[in-house]
Amino acid sequence: MQLSKLVNSLPPYHFADAKKKIQDREAAGVDVISLSMGDPDLPAPPAVIERLCTSLQDTQNHRYPEYRGMRALHEAIADWFAQRFGVQLTPEQDILPLLGSKEGLAYGATSVLDAGDIALIPDPYYPVYVSGTTSTGAEPYLLPLREENHYLPDLENIPADILHRARLLWLNYPNNPTAACADRAFFERVVEFAQQHNIVIIHDMAYAEVYFDDFRPMSILEIPGARDVAVELHSLSKTYNMAGFRLGMLVGNSVLVDAVGRLKSNIDSGIFRPIQYAAIEALRMPPTWLEERNAIYKRRRDILFEGCNALGMSTEKTRAGLYIWAHIPQNFVTSREFTTWLFDRTGVFLTPGTNFGAGGEGYVRISMTEPEERLNEALKRMHTVLRG
Ligand SMILES: Cc1ncc(COP(=O)(O)O)c(C=O)c1O
Repeated sequence: MQLSKLVNSLPPYHFADAKKKIQDREAAGVDVISLSMGDPDLPAPPAVIERLCTSLQDTQNHRYPEYRGMRALHEAIADWFAQRFGVQLTPEQDILPLLGSKEGLAYGATSVLDAGDIALIPDPYYPVYVSGTTSTGAEPYLLPLREENHYLPDLENIPADILHRARLLWLNYPNNPTAACADRAFFERVVEFAQQHNIVIIHDMAYAEVYFDDFRPMSILEIPGARDVAVELHSLSKTYNMAGFRLGMLVGNSVLVDAVGRLKSNIDSGIFRPIQYAAIEALRMPPTWLEERNAIYKRRRDILFEGCNALGMSTEKTRAGLYIWAHIPQNFVTSREFTTWLFDRTGVFLTPGTNFGAGGEGYVRISMTEPEERLNEALKRMHTVLRG
């Protein structure tokens, strides 16, 4: 069968490939410890599960759902956003519930980009920014994220001809994979940049609610004028351990929110209502639930931070998000060489930094989504082969 050039140009999705490798090794009897995916191991709140079950009993909810989400969900998102970020959103205009934020990445790109346009993509990147861009016929222009710049893109040295064709800037803070966070000064600068060059910003904030110590990630929509140029993606996947539920939302610029809604309703038929009810319940969870959940991740972060540094894999203390971004040990040349070597000898599966673009060379991404005893076991095995 002859397939499209687009599909032929797509690589296999890394995490689908990784899952297969892990399954093969487990079938061979290896006790694999996968610190690869950011797939929360902790359960969704009990109240959310209960609401899902009761909503499921109501057969009215088995019918086609609203294309753009229930009014009550829009309102719950607006209330949550106001409480969390101090930003007022108009429920029907500024908010679009999605089947996970990943959906919004693809539709966001399609709503903004035409063939021949350029999208500015900080590198390393969440791979969907590139596939979302190229699937429209637009071209990615990579902006290196360097440790010495705190993994913030340099907006001052983009060639004029690139800026002229650039229509979209992808941003993601707290960042996957580098764990970097952006401050108010950066967001102010980036909004000014987008206004000056007529560029749309899609800020992916999938990790908004996993944070440690006194740090609280901010929304780009807190910056005056941001709504003229930016939309933001949020997700219940990491926030409320609801990755399998598939519930995200696009918020911000109402013209783009509406465009994505139009595109989406032409392609799918909305979110299963019981999932929307469960999402409303999640958004109303008391702050103590989040505090307790983040305290669990904080202990895991501390274990990995100490452990990696002790193994010569230097890393900074993650302030937000689910990942440790660590240097590979000095005696390895590439990230992939190290992760393959480690998996073969220990069954510990880490993600090579280069899975997120060339800018990730020399690093690995380690996920905190395993219990403490498994993290300690992984570090013990790593110690045996690296130091033993
Ligand atoms: C940066 C980033 N954006 C978006 C997503 C997609 O999340 P969702 O489950 O909401 O589709 C992920 C998932 O890992 C992610 O890391």
